[in-house]
Amino acid sequence: MTERAGTGRRGLFITFEGTEGSGKTTQMCLLVERLRGAGYTVAENQEPGATRIGGQIRRILLDPAHREMTPMAELLLMFASRAQAAAEIVVPALERGEIVVSDRFTDSTLAYQGEARGLGFETVMAAHRLALGGLLPDLTLCIAVDIETGLRRASENRMEQQPLEFHRRVAAGYRKIAAAAPERFRMVDGSGAPEEVAERVWAEATRLCGGAGAENRS
Ligand code: TMP
Repeated sequence: MTERAGTGRRGLFITFEGTEGSGKTTQMCLLVERLRGAGYTVAENQEPGATRIGGQIRRILLDPAHREMTPMAELLLMFASRAQAAAEIVVPALERGEIVVSDRFTDSTLAYQGEARGLGFETVMAAHRLALGGLLPDLTLCIAVDIETGLRRASENRMEQQPLEFHRRVAAGYRKIAAAAPERFRMVDGSGAPEEVAERVWAEATRLCGGAGAENRS
């Protein structure tokens, strides 16, 4: 594992993405367990949320009563939570040489606010640079499931209540990212039993970890 110029980063940053009810949170937990079992030190993050401040921002963002929230307010709240999580969790862990695994990151904002809400990728990346500089994942695993199946599994927060067409645009946003950043963004087939999906996730993760982080194994 190498240090990137100017960042002081020594760890590995893996993010999970997906449309509603894709099973990405389950897959993230299984990967974290397996990495720890293999001796890696792993830090976990969730977006929006994870920190004390992020938890409060998450409640504002997902409250079904907040129907009047503008796409720009939504975008900036996502990055407010993310900036706090970067400072408290992600960057310190990467500097310690750990593997950081995050349930969603900026690709969610590209897909949801950039594509589905129509703000555009450029606007999202401008906010990213302001809030996070050059902090991007080394590997992103996007768990792909059929939109209708996912929505049947999901609960009812403000995002999940959006019309089907919104969720189709989110999926289209993820496909655009996959085409633009194939070196780090992988679509993982989310069909089948969780254990089968976990094997596909493990195959992608070990390709990246293979030996990296070994100095950090306990
Ligand atoms: P979760 O269901 O994975 O916990 O994520 C919470 C919701 O927030 C989900 O509907 C996706 C949405 N979201 C965005 O719209 N933009 C973002 O940047 C993030 C991180 C989440």
